[in-house]
Amino acid sequence: MADLSIKIGHTTFKNPIFVASGTFGYGTDNPELVDVSNIGAIVTKSITLNPREGNPPPRIVETPSGMINSIGLANIGVEKYISELLPIYEVMDTPIIMNIAGSSITEYIDVMKKVEAVSSNIVGYEINISCPNVKEGGMEFGVDCEMTEKLTRELRNFTDRLLIMKLSPNVTDITAIAKSSENGGADAVSAINTVVGMSIDHKTKKSNIYTTYGGLSGPAIKPVGLACVHKVFNAVKIPIIGIGGMVSSHDVIEYILAGSCAVQIGTANYRDPGIAEKILNDLNDYLDEQNLNSITSLIGAVKTYV
Ligand code: SIN
Repeated sequence: MADLSIKIGHTTFKNPIFVASGTFGYGTDNPELVDVSNIGAIVTKSITLNPREGNPPPRIVETPSGMINSIGLANIGVEKYISELLPIYEVMDTPIIMNIAGSSITEYIDVMKKVEAVSSNIVGYEINISCPNVKEGGMEFGVDCEMTEKLTRELRNFTDRLLIMKLSPNVTDITAIAKSSENGGADAVSAINTVVGMSIDHKTKKSNIYTTYGGLSGPAIKPVGLACVHKVFNAVKIPIIGIGGMVSSHDVIEYILAGSCAVQIGTANYRDPGIAEKILNDLNDYLDEQNLNSITSLIGAVKTYV
């Protein structure tokens, strides 16, 4: 069997199939449906300093080959994350990456400081600078190079754990934001968060999303994700965790060829919470068929014409 392990910063993961923030709850919801110990890592739902109710409904709608969400960072807040979830993670045989969101640099720092102040086995942080669904913070950081670099640098001071910046595709040049993350000291970037979209009911003439716009995810955005990952791969030296519309091992291989060293399965979890495990098995079969000993030789190996 091929070696599926990958290294990001100083952390080694047993395989490159992670589940994406916001699509797998806090990783504790469906023990009977999925053996999470087989997953490379769980990225937990965005956590802010205080609990949030999120946006009013409707906040999810299915679209052709995808869905639009505008959840608005609904979450339990960092205190509950620490008291209720960290003890569960201690006994789970799966690496946990905590996703943090904030409306100011201080909020991101405060959340991280609280978690760093207690003992836990989480392996790192994914910093959400790309949520399109909130008025303050969210994507505000991820569209601005200076703010991205400043936030990354500040957070770097407070942790030796993995620091991953989650990038938005809703920018003119994603490579500039990736470079700012690298310059600020990030260990990796994850790309992409959702693509701003809109859905209208032609019968009622109403928007299908309360906030009018939301974030499009699912297979519809896979080509956008591949292009972003490939551009970032050519621009930075730090590893890239690919996200966007993967539903099969073939999709994963495409993301790895484009330059990802690991991937996050997102929207597909809603259809089948066990899909990450299935993709992992298929990936193993693919590598065996191709007589490949390790997955790392495929990273960025796409053959382009120019
Ligand atoms: C949301 O909570 O609105 C989605 C989070 C995100 O897109 O980052």
